[in-house]
Amino acid sequence: MNNTLEEVKSILRKYNQEHLLNHIDSLDENKKKVLLNQILDIDFELINSLYANTKKDIEFNNDKIEPMEYLDKYKLNEEFKYYEGIGKQAIKNGKLAAVTMAGGQGTRLGHLGPKGTYDIGLDSHKSLFELLSESLKEEGKKYGVTIPWFIMTSRENNEETLKFFEKNKFFGYRKDKDIFFFIQGELPMIDTEGKVLVGEDGLIKQAADGHGGIYESLVKSGMTEKMRQLDVEWVFIGGVDNCLVKMVDPVLMGVAIDKNVTVACKSIVKANPHEKVGVFCKRNGRPSVIEYSEISSDMAEAVDANGELLYGESHILCNLFSIDAVERMGATPLPYHSAYKKAKYIDSEGNLIVPDSPNAYKFEAFLFDAFGEVDDMAILRVKREEEFAPVKNADDAGVDCPSTARDLYEKFYKLK
Ligand code: UTP
Repeated sequence: MNNTLEEVKSILRKYNQEHLLNHIDSLDENKKKVLLNQILDIDFELINSLYANTKKDIEFNNDKIEPMEYLDKYKLNEEFKYYEGIGKQAIKNGKLAAVTMAGGQGTRLGHLGPKGTYDIGLDSHKSLFELLSESLKEEGKKYGVTIPWFIMTSRENNEETLKFFEKNKFFGYRKDKDIFFFIQGELPMIDTEGKVLVGEDGLIKQAADGHGGIYESLVKSGMTEKMRQLDVEWVFIGGVDNCLVKMVDPVLMGVAIDKNVTVACKSIVKANPHEKVGVFCKRNGRPSVIEYSEISSDMAEAVDANGELLYGESHILCNLFSIDAVERMGATPLPYHSAYKKAKYIDSEGNLIVPDSPNAYKFEAFLFDAFGEVDDMAILRVKREEEFAPVKNADDAGVDCPSTARDLYEKFYKLK
């Protein structure tokens, strides 16, 4: 322990982060060890470069941006049945697994607890997790299979998520047989001076590393290996906060298989040219998603010969990957984006600081930043009212909130 302590001290001196040990003496022996190991695990060079990036303006680079081709699910005519047939066969053969990303903090919604446990106010009072589990089970039944379900949590919400599932008897799934949980990666949070924060527990204040952490976590936690053992070839990855997410879609699978692509994504058409969503495009010839802040008004409004927006296919976090693609993406580091957030911490005098405005940076990778890793992908446009009912904000925001999601859900399932 003494050797470790000396090693840690010298690292902290080098990176000017000595405050991290200010209160080590108040920790019990076990926590002391955890803290030292946490510090040894931190890549301070990475932290320094992430901090430097927070000071830079967003660079508008000279990437060549072009529209991306897509298929409209409801304009496929006779090909619809063709793709559906291929996809149905693959699902019946047990080739599909579903992954739900539930590691986010859900700060905008403001629910105390994992977002998946949230009740959007249906008469049934079912949680998001239950709504997702029901649709997955129903879809599986159609093909005579149980679709294995993988749930990504974060260190922060893992215990509570597991307790919730235990209480609900895993909604009929069998733990470690057809439902699996894994914890995503984390990065330390830093203040505006680049100092790593200490959390209330006296340990390093870490935050989940974004939905882009999914690939690495799936691989590192052994989940892709598990999928291979189950003979799975295709992995649908979606968020926990879309109560209409359609995780099992034979047409999407058929398109991916027939077109021999390793990633097939769903899109919905933008509600209007200036809707603040990321849209699919080709960036320097490779698949990508371009943020609304990155395209000019002219580009946002440009239309093709049929009057369709050239950049109109919104990314809705509904994507199907081959296992090979997940593994390839998991092996390639993604860029981190910084977000300025409110974070409680212990200051160098040992006081708990509870800020009422943002005070710290958190770093997140975005799932779509990995799309450039593949040579080609297929985009399938689906209907907003059938597949997209996001729960992002609290009700007072009026958009993408529990009441709008509930309305869409009730309409789709004809509950009212
Ligand atoms: P969002 O980007 O909307 O983030 O996540 P969020 O954490 O739910 O909400 P805010 O931004 O704090 O208000 C989209 C999906 O990605 C998952 C979320 O759980 C959600 O299903 N996600 C996000 C993770 O699993 N891990 C992360 O680190 C971030």
